[in-house]
Amino acid sequence: IARRGGRRFGSAVSWKAAGTGMSVTNPAYAAILRRECGLIVPENEMKWQTLRPSADQFDFAAMDAIAEWARGNALELRGHTLLWHRPQWFPDWLNTYDFGATPVRRAERLLLDHIRVVTNRYRGQITSYDVVNEAIDHDRRAPIETSLSRAMGSPEAVIDFAFHAARAELPKAELVYNDYMSWEPAHEGHCVDVLRLLEGMKKRGVPCDALGIQSHIEMFKVDLASGVGVYDEAGWRRFLDEVTGMGYRLLITEFDVKDSALPADLAMRDRKVADYARRYFDLMLDYDAHLGDILAWGMVDAHNWLQYFDPAKRSDGLEVRGTPYDSNYAAKALREAIAGSL
Ligand code: XIL
Repeated sequence: IARRGGRRFGSAVSWKAAGTGMSVTNPAYAAILRRECGLIVPENEMKWQTLRPSADQFDFAAMDAIAEWARGNALELRGHTLLWHRPQWFPDWLNTYDFGATPVRRAERLLLDHIRVVTNRYRGQITSYDVVNEAIDHDRRAPIETSLSRAMGSPEAVIDFAFHAARAELPKAELVYNDYMSWEPAHEGHCVDVLRLLEGMKKRGVPCDALGIQSHIEMFKVDLASGVGVYDEAGWRRFLDEVTGMGYRLLITEFDVKDSALPADLAMRDRKVADYARRYFDLMLDYDAHLGDILAWGMVDAHNWLQYFDPAKRSDGLEVRGTPYDSNYAAKALREAIAGSL
């Protein structure tokens, strides 16, 4: 269905059954991927924490296994992410790294090596990368500082360098800045800050092609009678207008629904989640000409990260039902809602 609209639909996957367990080694999960997806993205296997046990070591075991599985099943692969620019997602050694007397050179060397090694390993297979992920602190309303930004002088120096390095390796790839902004009030400031970042990159000539909109959409505050989120959709459209007006393309990179605020009734919940998602996708598809890949962050409820991620997990102990398939691997109304919008 997505292909008819000229785009790819896909999902996050993991290799080991550990963690969220949305693993390609789980036959029922793999069957859904084969049937529904044209594309997959590694949930954690490409992050520095997995790939870089130390400054001078790479561990590609899990990521290679996913890449091989994708090839064997004729699925395409996206890259997530060359740099999640947050201390809590850096490996410990990087947070405490001694950049010595020439910090700029040492930091650039480290980042450049990482981007070169990773992009070259999957050359020809990965043509779209989240180059930088979540680089803005939405409480402090400022770009995030890390050991790398302190060494290189500013967060922007790190971000710009990462995009230039990726472009030098992959002249034709789609290079994406990926973040979690949404139209809910708590993220309004974050949207402004993302716009500021994108504007700055444009001015500085940074080779970033698209904004990845994660789309962990939230139903924490919904009008239960209508099932409609009490969010500022007009504001969200203005945001999308500004982003596309600057010439950036859009991707939906990590779709799922946080439904924890809805009552326990499963049938009712599944209906409301589907309606809400339908509305979201319909809005996003108004940007048809600008919108590329669409990915869910997992296809099966039981294996979705929201089951354990605060504050998305439910206080009543029930599952979050935020993905297209239930935990018995049966399609839900959400699956039809997505298909209907595309
Ligand atoms: C999440 C994974 O799903 C979890 O397993 C992990 O513990 C933390 O990261 N935004 C992103 C993704 O860009 O990389 C995150 O993935 C979810 C939020």
